Amino acid sequence: MRRVVRGERVQKVLARAGLASRRGAEGLIQAGRVTVDGRRAELGDRLLPGQELRLDGQPVEVAPPQRTLALHKPAGVVTSAADERGRRTVFDLVPPIPGLHPVGRLDRDTEGLLLLTTDGELTLQLTHPRFGHTKTYRAWCRGGTLAEAACAQLRQGVLLDDGPARALHARAAPGGVVLVLGEGRKRQVRRMLSAVGAPVQRLLRTHVGGLALGELASGEWRELGRRDFGRLGYTPGARPVPSTRARGRER
Ligand code: URA
Repeated sequence: MRRVVRGERVQKVLARAGLASRRGAEGLIQAGRVTVDGRRAELGDRLLPGQELRLDGQPVEVAPPQRTLALHKPAGVVTSAADERGRRTVFDLVPPIPGLHPVGRLDRDTEGLLLLTTDGELTLQLTHPRFGHTKTYRAWCRGGTLAEAACAQLRQGVLLDDGPARALHARAAPGGVVLVLGEGRKRQVRRMLSAVGAPVQRLLRTHVGGLALGELASGEWRELGRRDFGRLGYTPGARPVPSTRARGRER
């Protein structure tokens, strides 16, 4: 299939170059201060690869667009750039993109949805608990389906060695539990489930915010698009909420 190159809206490119806000860039275009290949740009014009963009006659350095991938991380793969023991890393599974880094981490034995991005702001928003982005996990436990009392304990909170931790939602699922967390401390799900006497056998992250792992096969990745960012609840320029109140949604 031939890939159609649609380019990127000129106002977006100007904003990414730090020359104006998206709205401000629209004003610059409407004021006739922007040209593409020497021709006055119109609102809605797209910049194609190789085209020259100028503001007030000065060339604008066009930064490459940010890229964000969703990977279905298999078990047995580490979430780091290089592993001193030579184990397979998540970077062995995705294309080599400069500046690409994982958004948080999953343990070597955890499977499921892992985002990798070049966008530092997206990483900050999705990993900082003050932005209230949730993560949903499906765990299969050694003792099988969790009892309601254990789910209630997870919702009320358990004491871990680095402080209390609670699930925003916890409900029994065949062979284990579904948990929604508003934070991501080291091995948090495994430690929380051990604390209620249900050690984890298999752990799968199914959602980051409202973005689902969906049909992505183990070891495969896909590039995120505009709708996906909506599902993630990622808003460039958003400010953290004043408390750790997370916008959890049970699934
Ligand atoms: N909690 C865990 O215990 N492990 C992970 O990989 C992610 C969350």
